[in-house]
Amino acid sequence: MTSYSSQSDIVSNLSAPYPQQAMNKRIIYGLGAVAVVVILALSIALGVVANKDRDKQTYNYPPNVQPSSSVSQQPATCPQQTTSCKPQVIMCPEPYRPEPEIKRPEMPTTADCLKQYGNPTDLQIANCVLESYPLIDGHNDLAYWYYETVHNKVYSVDMRKNLKVLYPNSTIHTDIPRIRQGRLSAQFWAVYVDCGSQYKDAVKLSLDQVDTVKKFIRKYPDVFKFVTTAQGILDAFKEQKFASLMGLEGGHSIDSSLGNLRMFYNLGIRYMTVTHSCNTPWADNWHMDDHNTTEFNGLSEFGKVVIKEMNRLGMLVDLSHVAKATMIAALNVTEAPVIFSHSSAYKICNHHRNVPDDVLQLVKTNGGIVMVNFYPNFVNCPPNNDSSVLATVQQVANHVDHIKNLIGVDHVGIGGDYDGIPTTPVGLEDVSKYPNLFAELSRRHWSTKDLEKLAGRNLIRVFKMAEKVRDRLSYLPPYEDILPVAERRGNCSTLIE
Ligand SMILES: *[C@@H]1O[C@H](CO)[C@@H](O)[C@H](O)[C@H]1NC(C)=O
Ligand SMILES: *[C@@H]1O[C@H](CO)[C@@H](O)[C@H](O)[C@H]1NC(C)=O
Ligand SMILES: *[C@@H]1O[C@H](CO)[C@@H](O)[C@H](O)[C@H]1NC(C)=O
Ligand SMILES: *[C@@H]1O[C@H](CO)[C@@H](O)[C@H](O)[C@H]1NC(C)=O
Ligand SMILES: *[C@@H]1O[C@H](CO)[C@@H](O)[C@H](O)[C@H]1NC(C)=O
Ligand SMILES: [Zn+2]
Repeated sequence: MTSYSSQSDIVSNLSAPYPQQAMNKRIIYGLGAVAVVVILALSIALGVVANKDRDKQTYNYPPNVQPSSSVSQQPATCPQQTTSCKPQVIMCPEPYRPEPEIKRPEMPTTADCLKQYGNPTDLQIANCVLESYPLIDGHNDLAYWYYETVHNKVYSVDMRKNLKVLYPNSTIHTDIPRIRQGRLSAQFWAVYVDCGSQYKDAVKLSLDQVDTVKKFIRKYPDVFKFVTTAQGILDAFKEQKFASLMGLEGGHSIDSSLGNLRMFYNLGIRYMTVTHSCNTPWADNWHMDDHNTTEFNGLSEFGKVVIKEMNRLGMLVDLSHVAKATMIAALNVTEAPVIFSHSSAYKICNHHRNVPDDVLQLVKTNGGIVMVNFYPNFVNCPPNNDSSVLATVQQVANHVDHIKNLIGVDHVGIGGDYDGIPTTPVGLEDVSKYPNLFAELSRRHWSTKDLEKLAGRNLIRVFKMAEKVRDRLSYLPPYEDILPVAERRGNCSTLIE
């Protein structure tokens, strides 16, 4: 104890610049000083060794990341250890320290994975499926949570922690530990801004949300990988990275500009939800169905061109949130399969955010996919309402089963809408719970092949088809239509006439 503090005094004396006179005076203590220096050098060396050992014990480096070989290799921005400090005090940011990973075996098939169990439980079957083929969720609003909760200050949040613990008053459903627990492998992150920003700053705010998604992908490069293609999702899965894609939730975000649509594509946006819960100047949203009316009979002529340009770009057409007339009109125009990134089955729960049976038949013909939403209001409502619970994982399974039974297992997927919904079903409380849904379907005798289709094979097929359509249409120049002046809304624009 005492020797420790006297040692730091010596260290600070030695580090001070010696005036020449003082040096001369101290020559007679030369031998003593040398001895002190030798002792000091030894103790520093021992300290460094001890630090390295502590690194080895505490940090679990992946094979391709080596610990820095000495303290002096800290990044340039890191303040150097000052000699007046205790040698043990490291004033730098912590070195790269990945979370322990759920190790996936060498890309086994689901069947390989199941060999380890004599008689696997439904949950073990679910986990094997999700470890063998990527689970791709169509819609998650984490970026909007960042906007609302921390004004997009991504670097103020540690996604490696359970955020429900750090933000107990928030409904936050998503973080890295829970993503791993839920065997989620790929996510379309929603780029969403409120309809109130339409005709005002919707484009600016949407760009900020693109930036937010890119920031949290950049912040955890050992976890997330930004991808923009179907093959990219599969490659990321092989690299044990979490494939991160972006979808633009709402046509209001392009402010009726095909140029903006193309620029969002260039930024990496791979689907656009044709409307959010407001009409654009060229498409009807689902609220119109509450009033049994439409403004554009689904899509205006300009709206149809938006769909064609999306086909040409290879941007998926997302029909969640649109009116039934818009679903029908878009399905009539599109050359590529469509998605519903987060909608359930209207037959099971009569909510206009859900997909009616006659539209499901068109989706089958189109080759598209309905990615089932977990929001209790869309899951548990008349005619099958059970007022004793908010909603349950079994009821979500009823939606999935209904779509499979009506149009086939090739047209159903998962779009949980986590962090875009204030409540969740029992058994699907957050992103750690996806295996419960797959276990419930296994209990209902879904084959592992069909569970893989639900998890990701269907979405990959749809995405690859849309990429093929893009390639086939690559001879076309960009559409240069502009919204007719008479159809413009709002009065904040400076467009020339
Ligand atoms: C959470 O909410 C409770 C009551 O609503 C409040 O007392 C508490 O301070 C809040 N905690 C945080 C971290 O905001
Ligand atoms: C909705 O409108 C259609 C066609 O205009 C009509 O046939 C139908 O009866 C209306 N439904 C309701 C509930 O008003
Ligand atoms: C589908 O589009 C064609 C033109 O391509 C049009 O004649 C037809 O009326 C449309 N059908 C529907 C249901 O919108
Ligand atoms: C279902 O909803 C209807 C109307 O919303 C209500 O009258 C009925 O009591 C509900 N039934 C159950 C079983 O919750
Ligand atoms: C612009 O539109 C808003 C809302 O529709 C309206 O209140 C305002 O008076 C309009 N301003 C002008 C200059 O037309
Ligand atoms: Zn939504």
